[in-house]
Amino acid sequence: MVENQQQRVLGIVGATGFIGSCLSSRAKEAGWKVVGFSRSKQAAVGAVAEWRTWGESVDLGGLDALVNLAGEPVDQRWTAEAKRKFHQSRVGVTQLLAREMAREGAPRVWINGSAVGIYGDRGDEILTEEAQAGEGYLAELCREWEAAAVAAGVRVLCWRTGIVLGKGGAAWGKMRTVFQWGAGGRFGDGRQWMPWIHVDDLACGMLHALDSGISGPVNGSAPKVERNADFTRKLAAALRRPAILPAPAWGLRLALGEFAGALLASQRAVPEKLVADGYEFRFPTLESALGELLG
Ligand SMILES: NC(=O)c1ccc[n+]([C@@H]2O[C@H](COP(=O)([O-])OP(=O)(O)OC[C@H]3O[C@@H](n4cnc5c(N)ncnc54)[C@H](OP(=O)(O)O)[C@@H]3O)[C@@H](O)[C@H]2O)c1
Repeated sequence: MVENQQQRVLGIVGATGFIGSCLSSRAKEAGWKVVGFSRSKQAAVGAVAEWRTWGESVDLGGLDALVNLAGEPVDQRWTAEAKRKFHQSRVGVTQLLAREMAREGAPRVWINGSAVGIYGDRGDEILTEEAQAGEGYLAELCREWEAAAVAAGVRVLCWRTGIVLGKGGAAWGKMRTVFQWGAGGRFGDGRQWMPWIHVDDLACGMLHALDSGISGPVNGSAPKVERNADFTRKLAAALRRPAILPAPAWGLRLALGEFAGALLASQRAVPEKLVADGYEFRFPTLESALGELLG
């Protein structure tokens, strides 16, 4: 930071979470003061300078930018109660933030969470940010989530995140454990495209985008998207374990219910906007990401 230049303030809703803690650290390193928002916890996220609790209302005063990463985890059985929580914690929370954005002193730029699930199940179609939304429960949820953010009328980036790989993340933790036991394998026929991103690129990409002029939907996934079968093979090879236990689609549906559809859907998403905007990925290929994660 330049001497005497006022430190910019970044608010992060969901700063206690996996992506939020990494973003807090990267933002602090980049010179931001981080204000963390949590419903209850004052968690030990060292990079957070100030905590604010929120609930029926939220105080966005004094922030220069906001990132909303709140969301009930979707890797659970999609019961009616779980779906109510998915919706409230995404669409409901975003509507609350959008209302607060209208107040004086609120930030003028906002990154709101979304997911590549917005594209539905699209086979081999290449999905840039220009692609239409797809069909299905997650696509509909993401569509409503994004519409709620856009309604704020400020500069909004709807961050369509792929599977996030990083130490401490649920997806990576589960994959690593299963494959280390030699019990990993492709899902269904493995032909489905699986957009993924290293958590450092997700955080640094967001900070890059806050400082650039881009807005609207942004695909938060690495340039080199993989088919599920190739992802599986590369992960097993990196761990020097076999990947011989494929999980058939019917078995996944039986074990996981509707959530299985999210693992079997194909989304060949590419980060066209971030790349065109000059963001240089630290981990553009799965091999480079696995090298860091297992190094
Ligand atoms: N990780 C991935 O692979 C991935 C992929 C695509 C999209 N995303 C999206 O990115 C966002 C952040 O993901 P993450 O992996 O960092 O998740 P996470 O570790 O589970 O953190 C989510 C945060 O949301 C808050 N939260 C949880 N349940 C909530 C609820 N019912 N109502 C309101 N707030 C709630 C929690 O904050 P407090 O408890 O402190 O309030 C928590 O810090 C989520 O919206 C997720 O859907 C993640």
